Amino acid sequence: MDLGLSGKSVIVTGGGSNIGRAIALGFAREGANVTVAELDARQGEAVVQEAQKLGSGKAAVVATDVTDFAQVQKLVDTVVAQHGGVDVLVNSVGWDQLMYFTQTTPEFWEKIVRLNYFSVLNCTRAVLDPMIKAGHGAIVSLSSDASRQGEPREAVYGGIKAGINAFMKTIARENGRYGIRCNAVCPGVTVPTDKAEVGAHSMWVRKESMFTDEQLEKVAKALPLRRIGRPQDVANAVLFLASDAVAGYITGQVLSVSGGYSMIG
Ligand SMILES: NC(=O)c1ccc[n+]([C@@H]2O[C@H](COP(=O)([O-])OP(=O)(O)OC[C@H]3O[C@@H](n4cnc5c(N)ncnc54)[C@H](O)[C@@H]3O)[C@@H](O)[C@H]2O)c1
Repeated sequence: MDLGLSGKSVIVTGGGSNIGRAIALGFAREGANVTVAELDARQGEAVVQEAQKLGSGKAAVVATDVTDFAQVQKLVDTVVAQHGGVDVLVNSVGWDQLMYFTQTTPEFWEKIVRLNYFSVLNCTRAVLDPMIKAGHGAIVSLSSDASRQGEPREAVYGGIKAGINAFMKTIARENGRYGIRCNAVCPGVTVPTDKAEVGAHSMWVRKESMFTDEQLEKVAKALPLRRIGRPQDVANAVLFLASDAVAGYITGQVLSVSGGYSMIG
């Protein structure tokens, strides 16, 4: 099926690692012009090299700290200058460390809010100007099933991801009139297949600090689909939502991609 993404200008934040990487490579396979916005420019560059081999029009990395609005504005100006606009923004930067709320500190809360929420606010605000001007666009933000379930050891993260769901719905209502669609995707546990798929700033750089193999086995057994998520599972849903050709009448939605962990009616 042709998703109609060939030649589209796509920004993927955090596109150097795990889910963001699979998303960037997914757009590359469709022939999109992918810009990877990364704090870890080296890891981003490795993904860009792969993207080019897969057929991406003009893949590039732009070293960006997405928690800094000035840097994000510069990123968007650069992409608009190079590609004439931004057709798709994927907000994939996010971060967590699994801890009970009583073990966390105000410094930790601040880091969670900055990386998971300010990143989305900054990038969404900056792309809306060129998208409104163009009269079209798609924004997909990576949320989490922790936003839909009370997830032990993810209190602050789950709370802020629920904020992203609500934020995306409001942005969808405010900007549908300009042809802009906004949706959120909620992965469940989604583990990289290979160490090379994660960067130095990835929350998976020490996988065992997130989940031991034994814990992952237990998680898989409890899921209706009986397996842990892979980055490609999430990337497929993001590409679907980004495509006007197949999801042109879908906006303001929150979609779980989690092997059936959450089932929201
Ligand atoms: N992997 C999972 O199990 C899972 C589950 C639910 C939700 N999610 C969400 O999916 C998204 C992607 O997760 P992932 O597992 O691919 O994460 P990851 O930690 O592997 O990758 C995050 C990427 O963002 C980059 N980054 C970090 N801070 C940055 C900054 N300030 N500016 C620019 N880039 C920055 C890192 O260098 C890294 O490449 C996140 O929003 C996460 O919360 C992931």
